[in-house]
Amino acid sequence: MQALVVHASDRGSTTELAGWIGDAFAERGIEVEVRACEQVTELAEVQAVVVAGALYLGRWHPEARRFVKRFAEPLRRRMVWLCSTGPLDHSATQQELPAVSDVTRALQRSRARGHRTFGGKLDADATGLLASQVAAQSAGDYRDRAQVTAWAQHLADTLVAEAQG
Ligand SMILES: Cc1cc2nc3c(=O)[nH]c(=O)nc-3n(C[C@H](O)[C@H](O)[C@H](O)COP(=O)(O)O)c2cc1C
Repeated sequence: MQALVVHASDRGSTTELAGWIGDAFAERGIEVEVRACEQVTELAEVQAVVVAGALYLGRWHPEARRFVKRFAEPLRRRMVWLCSTGPLDHSATQQELPAVSDVTRALQRSRARGHRTFGGKLDADATGLLASQVAAQSAGDYRDRAQVTAWAQHLADTLVAEAQG
C-alpha cells in the first residue's frame, strides 16, 4: 500500500499537519510520501491520496485547488480524502465544520471519500497587513495533533482493510 499526502500552505502549519498524517500512516505500515502539491508530477503507483490545504479568506489554498483539478481523473481511480487547516479558535475540535465551497467542488471533482476541517495556527508576529491584523485578534496554535492522528489512523485502517479485502 502506497500513499501520498500533499499540502498547500503559506506559513507552514498545513505542511506540518500533513507530516502528522504521514507519521500516522507510516505507523500503520503504509509506505507514504509527504510533498507540496506543486512538487507532484504524477501519481504512479500511489493507491491513496490525502490533500491538505490551508484556508485563507474563505477559500481553499490555490495550490490545493490546482492539484485536484490537474489530477482529477487519476484521483477518481484512487482512495482520496481532503482536509482543511484554518479556524483560529477551538471550533474545529468541538464540532465537525462544513467544507467551504472550494472543497465541496474538489470533493465532487476527485470523488473523494471525505473531508475534515482542523484548527489552524498563526504566529503573533505574522507579517503582512491582513495577517498581522488577524494575528492581533487570534494568534495561536489551534491544531489538535491527537485529533489529526485519530482521523489519519481511521483512514489508514480503511486503506489496509481494502488492500486485504
Ligand atoms: C489573512 C488570513 C486569512 C485567513 N482566513 C481564514 C479563513 O477564511 N478561514 C479559516 O478557517 N482560517 C483562516 N485563516 C487562518 C489560517 O487558515 C491558519 O492560520 C492556517 O493554519 C494557515 O495555514 P498555513 O500556515 O499552512 O499557511 C486566515 C489567516 C490569515 C492570516
